[in-house]
Amino acid sequence: MENELALGEGAQEIIIKNEDYRETSRFCSIIGYDDVKKLFNLSLESEKPVHILLVGPPASAKTLFMLECMKLERSYFTLGSHSTKSGMIDYLFKNRPKYLIVDEIEHMPNKDQTALLSLMETGLISETKHKRTRSTQLKTWIFATSNGIEHMLTPLLSRFLVLHFKPYKLQNFQEITVHLLEREGISNEIANEVANAVWLRMKSRDIRDCIKIGHLARTKEDVGWIIETIRSYK
Ligand SMILES: Nc1ncnc2c1ncn2[C@@H]1O[C@H](COP(=O)(O)OP(=O)(O)O)[C@@H](O)[C@H]1O
Ligand SMILES: [Mg+2]
Repeated sequence: MENELALGEGAQEIIIKNEDYRETSRFCSIIGYDDVKKLFNLSLESEKPVHILLVGPPASAKTLFMLECMKLERSYFTLGSHSTKSGMIDYLFKNRPKYLIVDEIEHMPNKDQTALLSLMETGLISETKHKRTRSTQLKTWIFATSNGIEHMLTPLLSRFLVLHFKPYKLQNFQEITVHLLEREGISNEIANEVANAVWLRMKSRDIRDCIKIGHLARTKEDVGWIIETIRSYK
């Protein structure tokens, strides 16, 4: 009996661990941001849609979050600059996506931002074309990114849970660079050298620079040479 009980408890523990694994594996390409990942998971599991907007400097993993959300079933990805009101609304009517993902929403024209207001608040969308109005009710979560909030309509902003990403500190920058480059088989030593040189000598805060230089460098000495060469052509 004791054994059975122990087994039962063990089994339960494994199920909980599996569930944790599923949740963390959803954003596994992203390093850090455990609290943000948790918020996304809470939103995804919420009965009612909770819309999330990520605001922050370039290369702070905002688009990475959107790419991970694209893996969800019935999701639709659009770029703020490419969206046209009728195109997006047509898509919503036809495909009734559960997740609408808008990268760089600040580039969305105001009229398109307006179209989202009612969808976000009530789930209702309607459109009048050739004197005929069609409307429908959807249950759609909206996840979006923006580099800033200056070009966004205030009522739209207030419908989002807004998370402001801060620029990385040197330590985050090093950790992320080492993780990303190690995944590609580049040594810890070279990766650290790249992160420090990009931060201190190039004065760049963009992880993409580390990736480019990491791909080129074969030795620690290469790193310095590559950075000096780039600087001389600036
Ligand atoms: N926390 C992170 N985890 C993993 N990769 C990151 C992280 N932050 C930045 N990167 C790297 O920087 C690149 C740019 O990230 P991205 O999501 O496109 O930035 P943003 O949309 O904020 O400008 C990514 O492709 C990735 O290589
Ligand atoms: Mg981006």
